[in-house]
Amino acid sequence: MTAPGAFADVAALRECWHPVAFSRDLADRPVHADLLGEPLVLWRDTDGRPRANSDLCVHRGTALSLGWVSGNELVCPYHGWRYRPDGRCVAIPQLEDPSRVPAKARIGAFGCQERYGLIWVALAQPRWPLPEVPELEDGAWAVVAAGPYRWQCDAARQVENFTDFGHFPWVHPGLLGDPDRPVVPRHEVRTEGNVLHYTIVRPEARGSDDFPVFGNEQAGPPERRSRYELHLPYTIALRLGWGGERGMVYFFASQPVSADQCAGYVLIGRNYNLDQPDRVLQEFEDTIFGQDQVVVESQRPERVPFDLAAELHLKFDAVAVAYRKAMRELGLATSDAIGHVTGPARKA
Ligand code: FES
Ligand SMILES: [Fe+2]
Repeated sequence: MTAPGAFADVAALRECWHPVAFSRDLADRPVHADLLGEPLVLWRDTDGRPRANSDLCVHRGTALSLGWVSGNELVCPYHGWRYRPDGRCVAIPQLEDPSRVPAKARIGAFGCQERYGLIWVALAQPRWPLPEVPELEDGAWAVVAAGPYRWQCDAARQVENFTDFGHFPWVHPGLLGDPDRPVVPRHEVRTEGNVLHYTIVRPEARGSDDFPVFGNEQAGPPERRSRYELHLPYTIALRLGWGGERGMVYFFASQPVSADQCAGYVLIGRNYNLDQPDRVLQEFEDTIFGQDQVVVESQRPERVPFDLAAELHLKFDAVAVAYRKAMRELGLATSDAIGHVTGPARKA
């Protein structure tokens, strides 16, 4: 972890929303998640609202995610101390008066919200709101969830891979690209605040019989129009069209589990094939992400080097170049050793 260069700044990333679980996986039992090296316990309060606290009981460091929820309180499995959503301990059963709780008895409490079928956490005051993706909240679109895809690399490697055009014919021949048409079409990237915008019209393989998932209907070599919004640091909204009424939106967000581990969540909305079973798209995504994982986990360093002098960029890598520049300009990646070497030292 001492390689020179600029890497994602774990401290700065605390001021951003990140996905930590699918909503469907958080019911009435507490769940553990790791975010930027910070162990979290996720649970639902009496109103069903998701809550995120530090997964370390202040008494003996036990994982509270092994405990349970009682009313509006989280109960430690070891000695039964009870915590409120704001992190305050409100009962210590070993005391004659269990309510005489010392002020120091509290755990971290973090910003938490539920949207697009995901639980999101910000460890400090977030700098930007979540992206707006109305298609995912429109009942007329069918939405399928896939993942999470847990990879041994940083979230930036996973995000760059998702939006890397040059690899489609090589890593996903027949599924996302055509090996006979490997040239990346021209595209321009426009950066506005923390969002990169770019559109590409590129050849794709016709939907195979195994995975009839895309909406291309025209004769001749199929083309796909892809309009991207890359919301820094790690979320992408991609809208696909094939020139007709059919539309598809890919929403991808990578959870920075630690400095060199991530988990990718995929939500796919479409206004066609509404009755197709979810597993068709899920198996397609499992295949694609499996093909990518082998390649991306082999990359060194395991974290995207944000210094543009590191790695070799050509014109068709315009997105990666703009992404690396913007991440540095916004202070989300830095060559300041404190940010990336020591990991999550700061509390919110
Ligand atoms: S370790 Fe949690 S109550 Fe003792
Ligand atoms: Fe890929």
